[in-house]
Amino acid sequence: MPEFAIGETDFLLDGQPFRILSGALHYFRVHPDLWADRIDKARRMGLNTIETYVPWNAHAPEPGTFDLSGGLDLDRFLRLVAEAGMYAIVRPGPYICAEWDNGGLPAWLLRDPSVGVRRYEPKYLAAVREYLTRVYEVVAPHQIDRGGPVLLVQVENEYGAFGDDKRYLEALAEHTRASGITVPLTTVDQPTPEMLEAGSIDGVHRTASFGSGAEERLAILRAHQPTGPLMCSEFWNGWFDHWGAHHHTTSAADAAAGLDALLAAGASVNLYMFHGGTNFGLTNGANDKGVYQPLVTSYDYDAPLDEAGDPTPKYHAFRDVIARYHKVPDSVPPPARPAPTSEGPLRDPVRLLDAPAEWGTWEFHEELPVFDALTPMPRLALLRTTVTGDRPGVLAFGEVRDRATVFFDGERVGTLQRDHHERALALPRARGELLVLVEDQGRVDYGPRIGEAKGIIGGASLHGAPLTGWDVLPVDLDKVPSLRPTAATTVDGPVAGPVLLRADVDFAAPADLFLDTGEWGKGLAWFNGFPLGRYWRRGPQRTLYVPRPVVRAGANELVVLELDTMLDPAARFVPRPLLGHTEA
Ligand code: GLA
Repeated sequence: MPEFAIGETDFLLDGQPFRILSGALHYFRVHPDLWADRIDKARRMGLNTIETYVPWNAHAPEPGTFDLSGGLDLDRFLRLVAEAGMYAIVRPGPYICAEWDNGGLPAWLLRDPSVGVRRYEPKYLAAVREYLTRVYEVVAPHQIDRGGPVLLVQVENEYGAFGDDKRYLEALAEHTRASGITVPLTTVDQPTPEMLEAGSIDGVHRTASFGSGAEERLAILRAHQPTGPLMCSEFWNGWFDHWGAHHHTTSAADAAAGLDALLAAGASVNLYMFHGGTNFGLTNGANDKGVYQPLVTSYDYDAPLDEAGDPTPKYHAFRDVIARYHKVPDSVPPPARPAPTSEGPLRDPVRLLDAPAEWGTWEFHEELPVFDALTPMPRLALLRTTVTGDRPGVLAFGEVRDRATVFFDGERVGTLQRDHHERALALPRARGELLVLVEDQGRVDYGPRIGEAKGIIGGASLHGAPLTGWDVLPVDLDKVPSLRPTAATTVDGPVAGPVLLRADVDFAAPADLFLDTGEWGKGLAWFNGFPLGRYWRRGPQRTLYVPRPVVRAGANELVVLELDTMLDPAARFVPRPLLGHTEA
């Protein structure tokens, strides 16, 4: 069996110096029928390794579950990497950051406030061990010394940016070894002396994450990792986008020069990302450094392969750089072709406020509960109470996470947004039925706010007095796309949400598509039942990517849940992605 080890100056593959040329490709952000295509394109760019995180909360949506089916079939993903003649790096976290909801930590685990987050705490560690055991059952047989592709396994993720609990890191490394992982272990940290110090433990190889300044940053890494190969485990060749901000791009020439500097220094590298993919469904994370900023649906990342898997100028620039140091395959993937276009009306509205009981089940709560106190934990919920005052008053919430639309006797009176720190509005009359639609827009994935609760935090008040006695309806988003009106109906714009609409769309053959959401407000879309993700007029993202494997020749069905106001109720598919304005 082949052997992979860390030598005095290099990685050693069967005793010979070996440079890792890796690209990040998250299986959970790419349709499983497209994994092989993306892996093959990585190989053709000159890479020899594929790196992936493992998202705990996707595999374990409920306690005691571990889903390895379909798009979560990590075993199949690793087999495809091996079949392409490539190696693999696995980063199972348990915390992964990755602009992923809650940085991968399951929300159900942290609903008990006594559970520690990313530290040596028995309840947290017990759950982590159970999770890692399941992951390593899949990964261990794929290690290189058992004939598989896996070269390295990473412990935690940029831990030095969060904590300094060495006992916790030691426990993770010990459990990894006890689970049959025999390949070298690594940590990754942003290359500052403090973070490298706090995030590393003896016996685990230190690596760094950065997007420029290779020489200086490798020197800092070298001071903390005096022997063995230098590795940039995340070479940030692009960046991610938030709703309401601009679309990030980086110049292919600058990124290629950065890669060149790494290779010239003799370092190993993992491109973050080789291919970003998509935050399908409700999987996006968020940042919060005083202002909450949820991630958009596209995780294009301005990577060498774009969101639809087509090569960009960066792909060719990187391939040219790699070719100066290593042999690269001759053939390159073809350029993107325009996607098929189509247009049709959205119809058959089903309005949430007309018959909420079709959308979920009402439950009574004396005190307004946070989402995390409900089972199953909703992402969207309707709250209802009756107001019987003697004068109109101000409705106030402790805190809104992350967006609340308020209706009074069926009339929309306003929206409160977390990113604007809004939490109060005036009700127009003294008496009436109050309905509040609350949306979780994605959990923070970086910093001290990971694991925080969602929904209305700290209850509600009217005239400053607590407002109690609430009916709560967690919206069942698995069931919603199949709701239908009693009779077929057409609609003209604008259409006020919350409302479900559908359209039939025909295509001659399966193809990648770009759904234009620019005339819509804010909501979610499904294509033939596949959850495309969130859209928002705020941008910068204006189109949603529809992966080819979910498209059928002939009739297809698009379902849209509009939470705000749709200007033009039409389904439009356009030739190219529109990810929004850049900074320049
Ligand atoms: C860090 C994290 C990654 C990702 C990048 C930014 O390096 O380790 O998971 O969040 O930042 O894209």
